[in-house]
Amino acid sequence: MKITEVSDGIFRLSANVRDILFEGMWHIPNGVAMNSYIVKGKKCAIIDGVCDWDGVPETLYAQLEQMKIKITDIDYVIVNHMEPDHSGWLRSFREMRGDFTIICSEKAPPLLEAFYGITENIRTVKSGDTLDLGDGRVLAFEDIPNVHWPETMATYDTKSCTLFPCDAFGSFGAVSDDAPYDDTLTEEHIEFFEREMERYYANIVAAFSKPTQDAIKKLGGIEIKCIAPGHGIVWRKDPERVIRSYIRLASYAKGPARPEVTVIWGSMYGMTESAVKPLVQAIEAEGVPTRVHRVPETDMSFILDSVFQSSGVVLGMPTYEYKMFPPMAAAVDEIAKKRIINRKAFRFGSYGWSGGAQRDLEETASRLKMHWDFLEPVEFMGKPTEEDIKLIRERGRQLARAVKEWALEKTSGE
Ligand SMILES: Cc1cc2nc3c(=O)[nH]c(=O)nc-3n(C[C@H](O)[C@H](O)[C@H](O)COP(=O)(O)O)c2cc1C
Ligand SMILES: [Fe+2]
Ligand SMILES: [Fe+2]
Repeated sequence: MKITEVSDGIFRLSANVRDILFEGMWHIPNGVAMNSYIVKGKKCAIIDGVCDWDGVPETLYAQLEQMKIKITDIDYVIVNHMEPDHSGWLRSFREMRGDFTIICSEKAPPLLEAFYGITENIRTVKSGDTLDLGDGRVLAFEDIPNVHWPETMATYDTKSCTLFPCDAFGSFGAVSDDAPYDDTLTEEHIEFFEREMERYYANIVAAFSKPTQDAIKKLGGIEIKCIAPGHGIVWRKDPERVIRSYIRLASYAKGPARPEVTVIWGSMYGMTESAVKPLVQAIEAEGVPTRVHRVPETDMSFILDSVFQSSGVVLGMPTYEYKMFPPMAAAVDEIAKKRIINRKAFRFGSYGWSGGAQRDLEETASRLKMHWDFLEPVEFMGKPTEEDIKLIRERGRQLARAVKEWALEKTSGE
């Protein structure tokens, strides 16, 4: 990877990471970029780091060498966020040099000790505090707790009006050396990163949508000319664009989201499956797009992205040992944990003799406080009859209409 200049005195170092599961569980077929920034005044600071997975810190050091920056030239390491995808390299950095000063929020020191055994040369800062690097470059700090961990803060360069928000405004997707900025990318590429951002948001940030909204409000008062996040591309042509995207995504958590329906289904012997196509046709006939996923075949990362962005959700699954089909139970549990609440919903499915999936779903939705507004379910013994299919189509149309009305209410209320 090449080092690139964000603006006068600010440089982006980056490592693309592929062939891993992000947070040990999320598929990233397009990889992810881990960004770090050098900010130079008379003194030199590095903001955010990278993970300590094989070869990754070395990528960072090689880029410092390209810039002819020695480790000893760095006076401050600014740790916006303690999650090891940004702080992991501190361990090797400390081994190479013990005396640099770490700047972090007041909640970070116990984590620095617990994760890396670091207890010295730490300076804590809080909202409104500043750090003068000389040459007119003053950094300001703002606590943005729970975006994504409690200790998270954002750093702001008052000279260039650049915001370094770490995880916020980030996205999945490896970034090419030639075009890491919104002004060097084609519109098509920016849209690719916006799609990667949506899945990143649903997987990583969704559960923290309220703190994210609070952080955006807090940062709303400052002039932002450039956003340089810990993952993904840097926004220096149109930072408002990524702010608008995050405001929109944060609002999806409580619904309504897009006027679309996600259909998740699972089936052992094709009984439940035989109703999926008629249902999807009925929804789409109302002009509402669908996103259809089979469980367990579809990775959870994509299911969460889809449900997060849809105002309507259909769950098609049979009864299995008196409960929900297990891969569907796992999906529902994960969706609830991401706090994707207030959806228009419908469930259908097959059973053999007793049923039980429906009761299990109702208990789960209530226990996990999902607040999903379910239409009357359609359950059938064995194969669905023509009458069952007719009813399922009718429910599909009802759901599609409810989703459209809800989206319209939101637009008229804005
Ligand atoms: C391992 C297993 C457990 C099942 N447990 C139940 C059950 O507890 N209650 C019930 O009514 N049906 C149960 N069934 C029957 C299925 O719900 C029924 O076969 C249904 O038609 C399957 O629909 P599918 O082909 O869409 O998977 C079970 C089936 C299997 C294979
Ligand atoms: Fe994080
Ligand atoms: Fe991160």
